[in-house]
Amino acid sequence: MPVKPLVLLPDPVLRQVSKPVQHFDTKLRGFAADMLDTMYDAPGIGLAAIQVGEPVRLVVIDLAKEDEPKAPRIFINPVIVERSAERSVYEEGCLSIPDYYAEVERPSHVRVDYFDEFGNAAQVEADGLLATCLQHEIDHLDGILFIDHISRLKRDMVIRKFRKLAKDRAPAI
Ligand code: NI
Repeated sequence: MPVKPLVLLPDPVLRQVSKPVQHFDTKLRGFAADMLDTMYDAPGIGLAAIQVGEPVRLVVIDLAKEDEPKAPRIFINPVIVERSAERSVYEEGCLSIPDYYAEVERPSHVRVDYFDEFGNAAQVEADGLLATCLQHEIDHLDGILFIDHISRLKRDMVIRKFRKLAKDRAPAI
């Protein structure tokens, strides 16, 4: 399956609000498989469709450790229906913001309604890393990045750095 190129900060595509998936067909399942391959290739533990330039509400996650068998999970049209008052802090990164990490505080427990790749409704109760990862990826579907949850000073620094990197990558004309 083809690995897709990742959309990087500060590409405005990352700020788009993604649309719900309507057709649970073989094309969708092929796309989800490509997303997983792209995530494994990066490598990363979570990826939202908008990060490969597709504004649809689809997220893939695999939290298996390196020495464990793969445990791919696909979440389509995910909605957070419950958040705990209790919060926890994780150091987060993002495949669209390579080599940058920062601590982010989020609800430590969430309940998420979603559909699988065949259109079956499902629900997950998540805590720990899965809760953080789901919130990070679902944020992507609304054009929100983890750097939106850190201080403005730090965020501006990161955006400036990636703007410069993007300029250096651009071909000279
Ligand atoms: Ni991300």
